Amino acid sequence: MNSPSSFQTDSLIADDIDAYLHAHQHKSLLRFITCGSVDDGKSTLIGRLLYDSKMIFEDQLAALESDSAKHGTQGEEIDFALLVDGLAAEREQGITIDVAYRFFTTEKRKFIVADTPGHEQYTRNMVTGASTADLAVILIDARKGVLQQTRRHSFLVHLLGIRHVVLAVNKMDLVDYDQSTFEHIVADYRTFASSIGITEFTAIPISGFKGDNITALSANTPWYSGPALIGHLESVEVAATAAQERAFRMPVQWVNRPNLDFRGFAGLIASGTVRPGDAVRIVPSGKSSTVKSIETFDGPLDEAVAGQSVTITLADEVDCSRGDVIAAADDPPQASDQFAATLVWMDDEAMKPGRGYWLKIGTQMVTATVQPPKYEIDVNSLEHLAAKTLGLNGIGAVEFATDRAITFEPYATSRQLGGFILIDKFTNATVAAGMIEFSLRRADNVHWQPTTITREVHAAMKNQVPRVLWFTGLSGSGKSTIANEVEKQLNLMNRHTFLLDGDNVRHGLNRDLGFTEADRIENIRRVGEVAKLMTDAGLIVLTAFISPFRAEREMVRAMFAQGEFIEVFVDTPLEVAEARDVKGLYKKARAGDLKNFTGIDSPYEPPESPEIRVNTVDMSPEEAARFIIQHILPLK
Ligand code: ADX
Repeated sequence: MNSPSSFQTDSLIADDIDAYLHAHQHKSLLRFITCGSVDDGKSTLIGRLLYDSKMIFEDQLAALESDSAKHGTQGEEIDFALLVDGLAAEREQGITIDVAYRFFTTEKRKFIVADTPGHEQYTRNMVTGASTADLAVILIDARKGVLQQTRRHSFLVHLLGIRHVVLAVNKMDLVDYDQSTFEHIVADYRTFASSIGITEFTAIPISGFKGDNITALSANTPWYSGPALIGHLESVEVAATAAQERAFRMPVQWVNRPNLDFRGFAGLIASGTVRPGDAVRIVPSGKSSTVKSIETFDGPLDEAVAGQSVTITLADEVDCSRGDVIAAADDPPQASDQFAATLVWMDDEAMKPGRGYWLKIGTQMVTATVQPPKYEIDVNSLEHLAAKTLGLNGIGAVEFATDRAITFEPYATSRQLGGFILIDKFTNATVAAGMIEFSLRRADNVHWQPTTITREVHAAMKNQVPRVLWFTGLSGSGKSTIANEVEKQLNLMNRHTFLLDGDNVRHGLNRDLGFTEADRIENIRRVGEVAKLMTDAGLIVLTAFISPFRAEREMVRAMFAQGEFIEVFVDTPLEVAEARDVKGLYKKARAGDLKNFTGIDSPYEPPESPEIRVNTVDMSPEEAARFIIQHILPLK
């Protein structure tokens, strides 16, 4: 049995983390992921790698991360990227993602291995583990060869842009170290791998159990001339080193302004090299400047490279804040607001096309709305399937739009500027991970056309301040009746108004929409846009739509200036609305003749803090209308 004697048993770490970090400062860090199932001997292999070495579990790892950030270690700043942020967020909510990170070290290098369960329902775990990995070890049981799960794992590894693949053909001891078995498996895998775009991989015959070809080449496989596993892990190029070759980019994390004489931009360099005197451009604004100095905790630097956290000062007082990217002036990244991407859905609740999600990319946070997928990819057969949405573990090709331009690079070029997560605005759960493929060119070709007669001119001509009175409530709650009454009273006051009513709009503009969640979302999005145009025209707009989802009401609210959007909750209990049943729809819904009826078999999410709440049990429509008008006065 090979003894992993090159491992350091480092007692320093237990009692003096500072000294430990110091001792390890000049070693590079390789993050890798193991793919396979327990049956393939994954646990045995990981156990073997950790054997005799110091294991550090997650808590200590977190301590190390923050320590190394404080110390500003060189060239190997641990970049706990997006998904790990997401992971922390999920942990706070008590949801666990089943990824165990283990740390070990040899004399040449430090390693973090993400151990993720391999079966299909754990695509989400694998994506989490893989998003920061430099290398993937794909385990194969020599007795079984390439399996469906091998294909699935390889597809995900490639999708997530892991540049190095090791095909570890395990349990060689159980096939008598047979060379032709190994070679058959490698040939099989090569055919499949090239079909999905993996052009290079390193195949190693091993036995995790016996230790063959793990730390040293084994006498049992004299026919094998490649590297042992550890030797290979110690020698592959880590992503941070490769990133140094590319153009300079640093997403700004925060602006450091301790006094009027100092203004520095702090961030982690995503790619390239920077020196004082370099010409840089701030994206998306396009402003240019020159690097004045590069500051760190240990003093100024003459040069900094990808993977380092630094604070950059500029020669000019240009606008630059969190979310901007400081980049090489002659080769800046693009900015756009419409994209094609691959999305991996990670939430139990399916994707809602049209809904606004937070999109976090680098240090930028924007609102994104996703179109229904162009297709879903079956991870087992790799077939493209028609799909209207993506459920848990679903992977699809999508297009999305953001509410403002973001600075990006294709994921294939840069994980930092091309990888993103989507976050549910209400639950704060990380619902998806995505990879930008390219910007849709229409974003570059459609521009805002400035108009001379502005919304202010329109409003002034009408001698009023435009508003939106957004009525929400159950069907039969009294929205239309009260909105109509409010409009009548406003007209008596010479106000210019327009009432958009659900039933009416659904006969025209929105006649293509039904009552599925997706259609209701689109219904509200369109009505929001129309209401916006009408306020631009200077009108006081009243809308009467059930608008059952908080997320879309908030989306519309966000389209307006502070105070312009007034949410009016027509708070009629279901029993009362149902007892009124003016249109006979509740009766039909109860009888099962009308599906997806709000309050019966489709949800209504009441507003949490509406500007106005009216109670139609105690107030007549006229009283409710007067109450609302009182609230919105004065109108100039
Ligand atoms: S919303 O949910 O998309 O905001 P909207 O206000 O436009 O709904 O339309 C609701 C009106 O459509 C109801 O007042 C009712 O007359 C009618 N309707 C028909 N089917 C349904 C349904 N399944 N759920 C709710 N309302 C329905």
